[in-house]
Amino acid sequence: MKEEEVKTAVRKGYARVATQGSSCGCSPVSSCCGNTSLARKVSEGIGYSEEELGAVPDGSNLGLGCGNPVALASLKEGETVLDLGSGAGFDCFLAANKVGKKGRVIGVDMTPEMIDKARTNARKGKYTNVEFRLGEIETLPVADGTVDVIISNCVINLSPDKRQVFQEAYRVLKPGGHLIIATPNAANIRKRVFVPFGHNIWSPLAEWYHDGDPVFRGHVREPIVSELHQLLHWNQFQVVKTYGRNFIGRDSQALAFLPKPLVHAVAIGSDYLLRFFPTLCSDIHVIGRKAGGK
Ligand SMILES: C[S@@+](CC[C@H](N)C(=O)[O-])C[C@H]1O[C@@H](n2cnc3c(N)ncnc32)[C@H](O)[C@@H]1O
Repeated sequence: MKEEEVKTAVRKGYARVATQGSSCGCSPVSSCCGNTSLARKVSEGIGYSEEELGAVPDGSNLGLGCGNPVALASLKEGETVLDLGSGAGFDCFLAANKVGKKGRVIGVDMTPEMIDKARTNARKGKYTNVEFRLGEIETLPVADGTVDVIISNCVINLSPDKRQVFQEAYRVLKPGGHLIIATPNAANIRKRVFVPFGHNIWSPLAEWYHDGDPVFRGHVREPIVSELHQLLHWNQFQVVKTYGRNFIGRDSQALAFLPKPLVHAVAIGSDYLLRFFPTLCSDIHVIGRKAGGK
């Protein structure tokens, strides 16, 4: 499948999410879409506080993330932030609250319906320091060396050309700027466990999609930790930190069909395993820094 066909499929999927709330691309919990309270619960499960969830316009959190990059970004007043694949604007609004009126947040998304939704949300929330630009993260509509911090939540996994995304991120960052990416992990312990039963394919360097199934669960190709490090190194970023997060939390909706005590046991067991095998986490946060600056 050609890159453009992949993008068309991804764009179509997210246009549907934006207009109907009918499909959930990135969250492990596919039933969250179109259901605000469930989207909220999912977001609590992946690290957003109640305060954060209450501080954004209604309709901006679609439950599509797989981490909380803003929480790791240590944003300061006056900074310029860029969100790659901004969706309905959720992380942009959180970032805007932190950088204040003197700061600026730019969201880039390739799905026109998402951009429309994000702009409507910005108007609803009376945000004057946020703008949304239609564009692809492989060719960012942003000038060189103008951004302090780049965040991205559950989007890099959807790009058929990840190397180009990192190259573009490097181009638009100021020297000393940071890139914080949250992405699902192809080597997630659940996927590894299912391989022998034929439920899933896991091969670190193989493409996940094939004819007839172009976009696996809405993901073009999830990376693994070492690939993310490789992508950072190739593009001259310093690797600052890598965090794993295990989505099998105590309130996991994905396991809601099981009795609660069993879900808790699974959560405790998988957290314990991740202490020994951190690269098998369900979602990865990686922080890179462009050399130079202060
Ligand atoms: C899983 S959603 C995440 C949205 C948002 N980051 C959030 O957490 O709510 C993925 C978003 O990335 C956008 N997207 C996917 N691939 C993209 C690309 N190559 N360039 C720009 N946007 C892209 C989609 O249109 C969609 O809005």
